[in-house]
Amino acid sequence: KKVVLAYSGGLDTSIILKWLQTEYGCEVVTFTADLGQGEELEPARKKAEMMGVSEIFIEDLREEFVRDFVFPMFRANALYEGQYLLGTSIARPLISKRLVEIAAETGADAVAHGATGKGNDQVRFELAAYALDPEIKVIAPWRIWDLSSRTKLLEFAEAHQIPVAKDKRGEAPFSVDANLLHTSSEGKVLEDPAVDAPDYVYQRTVNPEDAPNEAQYVEIGFSRGDAVSIDGEALSPAEVLTKLNELGGKHGIGRLDLVEGRFVGMKSRGIYETPGGTILLEAHRGIESITLDRGAMHLKDELMPRYAELVYNGFWFSPEREMLQAAIDHSQAMVSGTVRVKLYKGLARTVGRWSENSLYSEAHVTFEDDAGAYDQKDAAGFIQLNALRLKLLAARAKRNR
Ligand code: ARG
Ligand code: SIN
Repeated sequence: KKVVLAYSGGLDTSIILKWLQTEYGCEVVTFTADLGQGEELEPARKKAEMMGVSEIFIEDLREEFVRDFVFPMFRANALYEGQYLLGTSIARPLISKRLVEIAAETGADAVAHGATGKGNDQVRFELAAYALDPEIKVIAPWRIWDLSSRTKLLEFAEAHQIPVAKDKRGEAPFSVDANLLHTSSEGKVLEDPAVDAPDYVYQRTVNPEDAPNEAQYVEIGFSRGDAVSIDGEALSPAEVLTKLNELGGKHGIGRLDLVEGRFVGMKSRGIYETPGGTILLEAHRGIESITLDRGAMHLKDELMPRYAELVYNGFWFSPEREMLQAAIDHSQAMVSGTVRVKLYKGLARTVGRWSENSLYSEAHVTFEDDAGAYDQKDAAGFIQLNALRLKLLAARAKRNR
């Protein structure tokens, strides 16, 4: 038996690696992806080697992640429950895709992940894996083993000489998931949603109160719905996001303290930091505001919650997500131009936007003399016909009074 494990090099997946070898009796192949989590990956290789792994895959997936997952999702302006930018949700399908591909390459018949049996991530990993390979087996140790408490887990680590990292407070760390789009923190000190998160939970944004007193402006260039340049410099997708993260982090942008409804039924509280993504969403809305027709935009906005829910629930590789994506991508044909965003103390606000494809017509909208562009008399009939139903309803209400 051979299994490909999504291996971060951290405590949990190190325990899983050892457990798969000793208790489950599997040969383990490890896969570690650089999704921009900002951690060295070489220690993960060392650890895997030390545990006797001979097939170790370490890959930089940052460009693919942003180009093929993050950017398509941002074309939709996706927000789950109105606020969550889906930073963890969107990374899982890519990890699963590589797990399944590596399984095929190495002759493994199973993949394994470190998500618990209580969360969304297990669903996302597994729905994606099954969608890409109907024969694949999935091993989710958290749902199988009897290491049911943190204490038992630490005992297992100790017994097998697995080093345990401590956080700044000297306890085992809370659960963190990070990539180029966001950092999420859940559990431990965060489990009481009535209590404000301590400052040390935040990892990649300064406190807005401590952000520079001077505002900063950034110009983001778009082509067909995707950000392609910053301040006139053409950048790759991962470069754009990296640069926006740097700017957003410095100005304390993109912090979110959210209680959300997990797919498995319970509510959970998370702290999210999405500095670059928050700027990008604002800018994308800014460029759409002048280049997208109202009808197209409003339909897109109706579809958005559905799209976001599909991403959240792990249905990235599904016909319905792909159908929505096709419609969304079609809408972006004219979404090109530049947006100027002001960054100041936790906020990113569009303050200017221009495009060759702009639908904005000053000639029509001006409060000054419009030289006959628009005949105000037309509005009278427009309002009368729209009011007809409302008048008939009001007349009936009056009769029945
Ligand atoms: N609640 C978020 C989501 O479902 C984040 C999950 C974070 N995962 C983690 N391993 N801490 O997308
Ligand atoms: C986990 O349960 O592994 C993390 C949280 C989640 O997946 O929702």
